[in-house]
Amino acid sequence: MTISLQQALADADSLKTVSESYQLDAELLLSHVIEKPREYLKAHSEDEVSEEHYTQFQALIARRQKGEPVAYLVGHKAFWDFDLQVNESVLIPRPETEVLVELCLTKLENSATSLRIADLGTGSGAIAIALARANTDWQVHAVELSKPALVVAQSNAKSLAVNNIEFHLGSWCDGLPGEKFDLIVANPPYVEPGDKHLQQDGLPFEPTLAQVAEDSGFAAQNKIMHGAINYLKKDAWLLMEHGYNQQQQLLKNLVELGFGEVEGHKDYAGVERVVQGRWISE
Ligand SMILES: C[S@@+](CC[C@H](N)C(=O)[O-])C[C@H]1O[C@@H](n2cnc3c(N)ncnc32)[C@H](O)[C@@H]1O
Repeated sequence: MTISLQQALADADSLKTVSESYQLDAELLLSHVIEKPREYLKAHSEDEVSEEHYTQFQALIARRQKGEPVAYLVGHKAFWDFDLQVNESVLIPRPETEVLVELCLTKLENSATSLRIADLGTGSGAIAIALARANTDWQVHAVELSKPALVVAQSNAKSLAVNNIEFHLGSWCDGLPGEKFDLIVANPPYVEPGDKHLQQDGLPFEPTLAQVAEDSGFAAQNKIMHGAINYLKKDAWLLMEHGYNQQQQLLKNLVELGFGEVEGHKDYAGVERVVQGRWISE
């Protein structure tokens, strides 16, 4: 039996119940298996798929049916203006985190060339790599508690030829080297334990350490805020991502801790997503 690329893609129908983007998912999986760009599938729709490739494709479709995210199945995910390797040790970088990167770059726009930046909970290295690529004179320090995640981040920096990041295994600010920073950024875990969303949209496949925080989801953010005040230079920035319902509480906490220019920002979908504060004391 011979199967064309177009006929193989019809298998996508079985993903309708698990994915709104079922056709795109199937295209990404098939192009991954045949090692060709997605555009190739349309241009060569009548080409035959080898039996070996079709078997591999069906196995990936079966895993996707069980909810496994496409990024883990193909082993990479686009973020900002580059592509990152991902596996089950790291959170799949999200488009909303690009808002955090954008805000960091806006804050640093008119600053001195050689800056010290910290990315706490670096995961795949997404934020650290985006900032390090923006200016190779900046020295970025990326901290991560999970050793396997740190290995992924280091490997991503290496593949992208990024040399201005130092990686540290450790917990939040305790993982940072002594000198103070011009900007600290973090996308910490912020989902409340037991939240029903943790059972949806492939989240069961992503690391709990990357998603869940005690104290109704605030534990990591509070640790970071309290730690950051000892690691920020005067007038330096702290920027943190947060959950859809956390912004008001975090703004209050930042003001109480003595931060100035405290503000909240929305993501591209209009959801409250990032808080900022400026450390105005010496
Ligand atoms: C929401 S993920 C963000 C990953 C990445 N920065 C991103 O935006 O895609 C949170 C990350 O924090 C890490 N993490 C959890 N607890 C930590 C701790 N105490 N210290 C440092 N990193 C921690 C997790 O392993 C995970 O990689």
